[in-house]
Amino acid sequence: MTEQKLMATDYHRATSYRRHELTPHTLDWAHQPMPVKHYPERPRVPLDRSAKPPAIDYFELTNRRQAFDSSRPETPDLRKLSTAFSLTHNITARTMHAGTPFYYRSVASAGALYPFEVYLAVHHIQGIDPGVYHYHLFDFCLTALRQGPVPEIPPVDHGVSATFYITGIFFRSAWKYRSRAYRYVLLDAGHLLENLRLALGALDLSFSIHLDFDDERAATLLGLDPQREVCLACVHLHDGNAGKKQPGAACDLKPLSAEILLASTVSDREVAYADILAVHRAGNGVNNTVAKDLPALHVLANAPSAWVDLNRPDHPGSADYARILWQRRSRRNFIPASGPVENPMTFLDLMARNMRTVSTQPPSCRSAMAIGFLAGAGLPIPPGFYLLDPAAKRLGRVSDGRFTEPMAAACLDQMWLKHAALHVLFMADPAALDRTRGARGYRYAMIEAGRLGQQAYLAATALGWGACGIGAIYDREAADLLDLTADGALLYLVGAGPVKTR
Ligand SMILES: Cc1cc2nc3c(=O)[nH]c(=O)nc-3n(C[C@H](O)[C@H](O)[C@H](O)COP(=O)(O)O)c2cc1C
Repeated sequence: MTEQKLMATDYHRATSYRRHELTPHTLDWAHQPMPVKHYPERPRVPLDRSAKPPAIDYFELTNRRQAFDSSRPETPDLRKLSTAFSLTHNITARTMHAGTPFYYRSVASAGALYPFEVYLAVHHIQGIDPGVYHYHLFDFCLTALRQGPVPEIPPVDHGVSATFYITGIFFRSAWKYRSRAYRYVLLDAGHLLENLRLALGALDLSFSIHLDFDDERAATLLGLDPQREVCLACVHLHDGNAGKKQPGAACDLKPLSAEILLASTVSDREVAYADILAVHRAGNGVNNTVAKDLPALHVLANAPSAWVDLNRPDHPGSADYARILWQRRSRRNFIPASGPVENPMTFLDLMARNMRTVSTQPPSCRSAMAIGFLAGAGLPIPPGFYLLDPAAKRLGRVSDGRFTEPMAAACLDQMWLKHAALHVLFMADPAALDRTRGARGYRYAMIEAGRLGQQAYLAATALGWGACGIGAIYDREAADLLDLTADGALLYLVGAGPVKTR
């Protein structure tokens, strides 16, 4: 049987929302997906709950060049790893839903469905045996899935002490969003990746991020059922063993037990959406396409008419990074501007700072997506649609006018969004991605959009604003409002600005 494959252009079009054409869908509450994976028979290693996060200023952290650095070959111990997990994925709020507790997390997620999971492959870390582990955020422990030396995936030239793997479980999101869920699985994984990137930077660890790897080998390593759960990102922690590879570097990889693979099943009644598997599998394998740099302008039908330099950041203060992470929440109670909005240039500067080369994202993914802004009232720039040029630190003025209200309407009439001072726009042209990056390009763009979306939330929190991600979009209506190319798409939007405080 030939496997069905779907390119990004077709998938994105097929899963578009159109006004008056949404098909009704009732949620099957009796078969709601489990929010965490369980491996009841496997041994556990407790993480260190007493490990404290480093006291570090969020603004300083975003200024740090976080990357692979052979002059910082420190190998973390279990304590440092505990802090890394805690800063990456944690519980930050609790509410009651129909008499049962519901836990919100440090990562924003479409519909609070949290489709992602985190694993760790240990090569040599003090206090923990080599092998593969799954991170259990509720019990704050690692579950051992595989013991003994394990291969590095993907293989790299520099020494690797451990690797974090971020996966996505399709049905956790598809339960609500059906075929469209692949978009959210990728965006949500990007949100989590940004927390991990910041955590490793805050801990001063040397690391590298990889979105290109052998998907089949990664699934075998982690014991995933590839129909249900897929690996989306790998983050290597480096040590000083350049050239001296560990014994596990090239070792054999035996499949894990059926019982471990079964943990990817999260409901007794799952529906497999063919489009999700088809678009994901089209991008499987190692991508040999040489990614050409896509200019940010590629999504626009018309180039900006003028460029405005980003003024110097206007925020002199500081904000504790761990506190910002803990306080981050989706806020929708934006205040209509009645005077000047404070610190908008700092917000734009923070977004620009976390893009392109400084982000340490793989080159294939850096320019897969473009960022724009809709400026509302009360900003030092006239209301309108702007494109961000992060390299030149400038804004391209695309169109003048008040767009936040029609954009709120294009976001499934979520009209509270019209009061946000800024709409951060994550845009790409799926056809250009297919052409320049092959079938894997869609992953790069969506993960990058999610990553910067998490950063937009954190930047807003640090400035005392609120933010809310928006994935519910009448796709063509939004693209037409922005006058994007025929295949150009608004992948994701984050509304940000001052909010009412209690
Ligand atoms: C990819 C993505 C899409 C989202 N789309 C919407 C949306 O369309 N409307 C909305 O009100 N919230 C949206 N959210 C916000 C989530 O509902 C929110 O993150 C989730 O309920 C968890 O709450 P928290 O962010 O306060 O932790 C989205 C979040 C993400 C990451």
